[in-house]
Amino acid sequence: MMSTCLTSVLALILTLCTGISRGQCPEKCNCTGLRVVCEGQQLQNIPLSLPAAEYLSLRNNQIRNISRQSFKGLTQLQALYLSGNQIETIDDGVFEEVPNLVYLWLNDNQIRSISRESYNGLTQLRILYLDNNQIHNISRELFKGLTQLQELSLNNNSLESIDAGVLEGVPNITKLWLNDNQIRNISRESFNGLTQLRILYLHNNQIHNISRELFKGLTQLQELYLSVNQIETIDDGVFEEVPNLVYLWLNDNQIRSISRESFNGLTQLRILYLHNNQIHNISRELFKGLTQLQELYLSVNQIETIDDGVFEEVPNLVYLLLNDNQIRSISRESFNGLTQLRIL
Ligand SMILES: *[C@@H]1O[C@H](CO)[C@@H](O)[C@H](O)[C@H]1NC(C)=O
Ligand SMILES: *[C@@H]1O[C@H](CO)[C@@H](O)[C@H](O)[C@H]1NC(C)=O
Ligand SMILES: *[C@@H]1O[C@H](CO)[C@@H](O)[C@H](O)[C@H]1NC(C)=O
Ligand SMILES: *[C@@H]1O[C@H](CO)[C@@H](O)[C@H](O)[C@H]1NC(C)=O
Ligand SMILES: *[C@@H]1O[C@H](CO)[C@@H](O)[C@H](O)[C@H]1NC(C)=O
Ligand SMILES: *[C@@H]1O[C@H](CO)[C@@H](O)[C@H](O)[C@H]1NC(C)=O
Ligand SMILES: *[C@@H]1O[C@H](CO)[C@@H](O)[C@H](O)[C@H]1NC(C)=O
Ligand SMILES: *[C@@H]1O[C@H](CO)[C@@H](O)[C@H](O)[C@H]1NC(C)=O
Repeated sequence: MMSTCLTSVLALILTLCTGISRGQCPEKCNCTGLRVVCEGQQLQNIPLSLPAAEYLSLRNNQIRNISRQSFKGLTQLQALYLSGNQIETIDDGVFEEVPNLVYLWLNDNQIRSISRESYNGLTQLRILYLDNNQIHNISRELFKGLTQLQELSLNNNSLESIDAGVLEGVPNITKLWLNDNQIRNISRESFNGLTQLRILYLHNNQIHNISRELFKGLTQLQELYLSVNQIETIDDGVFEEVPNLVYLWLNDNQIRSISRESFNGLTQLRILYLHNNQIHNISRELFKGLTQLQELYLSVNQIETIDDGVFEEVPNLVYLLLNDNQIRSISRESFNGLTQLRIL
């Protein structure tokens, strides 16, 4: 009897000292330790007087408005989930009360505009997800000061262009998602200076043209997704600035001509996707230097002939797909040198 009583008292003291007590936990929320979870409760407003927490999830509610007042007192907050609500705008200074935020999820809302100073002060932010919203434009000032940001996701928004300098404020970014937008124009300097960028997703946009300057300084880039766009030509040396590329997706474009020196310098490239394009011919010089290439996808193009020795430059090729082309003649020496080939 004595010991159960003591245990309860100790448990109570422990909760009071290390976590959020029951009395402090708002209605429709669950509080455990320093985590507050209020998910799928049809909340229209952020509960007032939230207890100090490190983790707050308000996922899948009907919250429309967030203001600076909403997060008052949450100075210890590190992770904030606001996904799946009906937030339309993000005003200046909204996150000023939560300066220690590391993770911020704002995906699956109806955000159209983000005020320039919205993220001011979030100097610790590492992850920002804004997927599945209706963001049209991002201004240069928007990401200013997010010096620790490592992952930024803007998939499935309504972006039409990426202007020069927009990403200047986020020099430490390693992964950038821009899939499923309507990006047509990318300024030459859009990505300049992102020296830590490893993965760049631009799948399913309306890019016509890629220039060499675009990738300047992206020396760490390993994966580049340009599939499902409207690229017609690949010019000489476009990829010279990204010598560490390992995966390159260029499938489902309208590529007709590839200049002879297009892929020059890609000594680390292992996988090259070029299927579903309109490539007619491939010259011998094209694959020069791609000594690490293991997989080459050329299906569904308009290739008619395969010249002698084309594949001599890629001795490590393991997969080569050439189905659905118009190949009529294959010269005797076409596949010379492909000692590792397993699938054709
Ligand atoms: C709180 O937890 C209980 C049990 O896990 C769960 O049924 C309930 O939906 C949770 N409430 C909220 C607001 O997440
Ligand atoms: C949401 O914000 C709008 C304008 O900022 C205001 O008119 C409206 O009353 C707010 N709604 C709630 C529920 O706070
Ligand atoms: C893109 O976002 C819209 C809403 O903005 C959503 O209905 C759609 O399912 C999303 N698409 C994907 C592939 O997530
Ligand atoms: C973004 O677009 C809105 C209208 O959609 C416009 O009012 C605003 O000035 C634009 N911002 C920038 C930085 O271009
Ligand atoms: C990038 O990150 C490193 C370590 O995470 C940090 O030391 C450095 O200050 C950051 N760079 C900038 C420009 O903030
Ligand atoms: C996109 O680029 C074209 C041609 O370079 C230019 O005429 C057009 O104004 C640009 N559009 C935007 C939205 O910047
Ligand atoms: C592609 O970009 C180059 C250089 O930026 C420019 O000279 C050329 O006109 C562009 N082509 C098209 C079709 O936009
Ligand atoms: C390959 O295409 C280029 C231009 O697209 C053309 O100049 C060249 O003659 C073609 N080579 C062959 C063998 O068809």
